[in-house]
Amino acid sequence: MYKVDQLKEKALLVGVDESDLEELKLLVDTAGAKAKLTMTYHDRKIDPAFYVGKGKVNEIKNTAESTDINLIVFDNELSPVQQRNLEDYIGIKVIDRSQVILDIFARHAHSKESKIQVELAQLEYRLPRLRGRGIEMSRLAGGIGTRGPGESKLEVDRRRIEKKIHRLKEKLKDIKSSRDVQRSQRKDPLAALVGYTNAGKSTIMNLLSGANSHVADQLFATLDSTMRQLELPVGRTIILSDTVGFISKLPHQLFASFRTTLEEIENADIILHVIDSSDPKMEKNIKVVEEELENLNSSKSKRIKIFNKIDLLKQSEINDLKLIYPDAIFISALKGIGKDKLLAKLNQIIRQNMVEIELDLPYSKGKWIEKIHNNGQVIKEEYQKNNIYLKALISEETASRLERYSREHS
Ligand code: GTP
Repeated sequence: MYKVDQLKEKALLVGVDESDLEELKLLVDTAGAKAKLTMTYHDRKIDPAFYVGKGKVNEIKNTAESTDINLIVFDNELSPVQQRNLEDYIGIKVIDRSQVILDIFARHAHSKESKIQVELAQLEYRLPRLRGRGIEMSRLAGGIGTRGPGESKLEVDRRRIEKKIHRLKEKLKDIKSSRDVQRSQRKDPLAALVGYTNAGKSTIMNLLSGANSHVADQLFATLDSTMRQLELPVGRTIILSDTVGFISKLPHQLFASFRTTLEEIENADIILHVIDSSDPKMEKNIKVVEEELENLNSSKSKRIKIFNKIDLLKQSEINDLKLIYPDAIFISALKGIGKDKLLAKLNQIIRQNMVEIELDLPYSKGKWIEKIHNNGQVIKEEYQKNNIYLKALISEETASRLERYSREHS
């Protein structure tokens, strides 16, 4: 009997520096293999045929031959030719970071939409890598890079894959148009949680909305956007959305096919950028997310940085961060620290877009009172002889509808 651990692929990770390899280790682990050894190289000695220099290739080959390593993972993206050359020369399976990320996405895709998105990205990644690999791939079957659309699909010819890509794109178009309809019907403001993978977005979602989003100490546990309603003290309901996490060097095929999911962020009124403050690479991760946000058309959204996991920091470290980011919110979603401050901030932003109104409504317009109660905050309500006097905070949109209505009916 084999133990599960013995069946796992044993990987040698190759990258520019050890700190990058820490993240790759986590990725390889999440994809179900075991990161056993690491090796760094000088990025000045790049050989177009193998990516790394020939000396390094020989070092990798020797290590592979003298250990039980059966997988090599490069932290950078390899061209199809480099990947093939390396595999032929070293004699074991060679994959790159993109393939590991694609594999994790394939494992974590549950809804119809994310399955289509991942399959599309995988096929686009595989298409240029297909030629002459049929036999090799079946010899190297199993493990990272073979999940998702299935081994047999890898052997179908280029034309069939192209056709499949076309069909998947059509399906995504349909999904996009039904999303657009849903979106246009949505009246409440949208706050989107975004962040580097594992920053704690789902945990914050659960903390704020009492929802039961999937929380896991795994990269990319959430691929589908989840939406929850959140009632703010100011009387307005907002929609909170949790969506796929970002990572540095996200395969461009994935970014393109997750476009529909990411559009949720473009349409957000508020972007809540969640940051794992305990991550030594925090600053770099913030940059990655900010760059990805630049690629999206999200400039009209109000942005707030949320530094999460402060339970893992010393008070002095928290104080330092507060000095650098005076407008940010500091919380521990896991321990429930800072929840009130975050809610107050959301409340304040939504409050800015609300107006104070005073009304004398005839009793026959009782329906409006209910509307105002549901869409805002009633400050004063007096039942007078002929009218109901109301002082309330309501959204600009409700105010202008009310104004239009009273003009038409006066
Ligand atoms: P992806 O789905 O990968 O994008 O992750 P996510 O951003 O949704 O993160 P998630 O909420 O799944 O949390 C990731 C891990 O961090 C889990 O193990 C959480 O329990 C942990 N975590 C979240 N918030 C905190 C916190 O405030 N403190 C500590 N110590 N851990 C936290």
